[in-house]
Amino acid sequence: MSRPILILNGPNLNMLGAREPEIYGRETLADIESRCRDRAAALNVEIAFRQTNSEAELIGWIQEAPASAAGVILNAGAYTHSSIAILDALQAVDLPVIELHLSNIYRREPFRHRSYVSPAADGIICGFGAFGYLLAIEAMVERTESGESG
Ligand code: DQA
Repeated sequence: MSRPILILNGPNLNMLGAREPEIYGRETLADIESRCRDRAAALNVEIAFRQTNSEAELIGWIQEAPASAAGVILNAGAYTHSSIAILDALQAVDLPVIELHLSNIYRREPFRHRSYVSPAADGIICGFGAFGYLLAIEAMVERTESGESG
């Protein structure tokens, strides 16, 4: 069996559904996970889907990813805009990385326009809401199955 795609969710994404629905939509993270599982099954790939509010835990998962995962899809939440430590962790691992956001961060407040994840990402998907998770899975399958990098 091939290795799973690791889908990592950072702080406050456990609040989806209730959290600013006009920005993030009304689906919960569990709803999104379920859609991801359906899409992964249709594409015949495995996923591991996780959320944490802890920067340290996210970093630990990124560090461990090469041992078990085919690639990382990361919605780092607000750590996107603040965490050099997450950038360093991503740059320390040799795996495809897709940066993901529900909202279009470039249409929002200026402090969201800087991403510390982007320099380590193969590609970025933002602004498509929960559907972006499905796009990211498709993109990761394309990237990992074609053996492309960089
Ligand atoms: C987010 C965008 C971030 O700016 C914000 O801090 C989040 C969610 C998104 O998915 O749109 O928590 O990553």
